[in-house]
Amino acid sequence: MTRHFLSSADLTRDDALGLFALAADLKQRRKAGQRSAPLAGRTFALIFEKPSLRTRVTFEVGIIQLGGRAVYLSGPEIGLGTRESVPDVARNLSRWVDGIAARVYAHETVEGLARHATVPVINGLSDFEHPCQALADFFTLWERGLDLARMRVAWIGDGNNVCHSLVLLGAILGASTVVACPPGYAPDPRVAETVRRVGGRLEVIDDPRAAATGADVLYTDVWTSMGQEAERERRLEVFRRYQINETLLGVAKPSALVMHCLPAHRGEEITDGVLDGPQSIVLDQAENRLHAQKAVILHLLGGSPDDV
Ligand code: CP
Ligand code: NVA
Repeated sequence: MTRHFLSSADLTRDDALGLFALAADLKQRRKAGQRSAPLAGRTFALIFEKPSLRTRVTFEVGIIQLGGRAVYLSGPEIGLGTRESVPDVARNLSRWVDGIAARVYAHETVEGLARHATVPVINGLSDFEHPCQALADFFTLWERGLDLARMRVAWIGDGNNVCHSLVLLGAILGASTVVACPPGYAPDPRVAETVRRVGGRLEVIDDPRAAATGADVLYTDVWTSMGQEAERERRLEVFRRYQINETLLGVAKPSALVMHCLPAHRGEEITDGVLDGPQSIVLDQAENRLHAQKAVILHLLGGSPDDV
């Protein structure tokens, strides 16, 4: 694994499986009430240009659980690229903290932070990727004992940042992914190119029913991502056919699992019945953000769960 975690493509299959094992260990220790402080005396900066519930809480709580401290910095407060250049922010933070997690609008911003920081940088979501989400998602499937290399994962909806990271990590782990999206909303061609390069299987079609048929996993996300609010009305129209509802779930495997990164727009990309139904594992995904990110932090900072 590289020194930073900006993209699912930063991971090899072995990296991902190693992180799953570490996350499972950290999760089990937490549930058993064991305490250790491998991050004692260490501090992380958490930069958020966009709102967050899960990412902010899981980073802050995870760092606290590992014995470290987190400093939250809102976008307007530090004015990344406006009040101060991205390289200058990266160089300054590197003199004070041991790592940086950043949620940004432009992916280039998190890349710029990584280029100029001398401490690890983690992408907490950009307009191009959400790798912490994908890691937690595949950890959630892995911990259920599922054979990732035999899975058919169907993404229904927008070929967005969450889709990119999921498709990339799926390819690295050997899963086959089918994306059903309206024309013009397919995953970025660079993602498809990386999938090809790592020998992965990705199909992009426009028929949600064909994608869902026989799938092991149905995954969706909001139709309008943060930063695209001006397009909301048009997107509501374009994506209307791409809802995960009881009918669509009915053509997937009977054992199929339903996933969503959250937050959900109930009644738009997914119905209440499916989101809250027995096949939904969305809260396991949300919980596992905590354990997966703790594993990433320990891995990047070179700590062990046994450090006191
Ligand atoms: N899934 C996710 O990243 O949630 P937040 O936007 O609340 O952090
Ligand atoms: N695609 C969504 C994910 C939120 C976690 C967004 O970028 O807003």
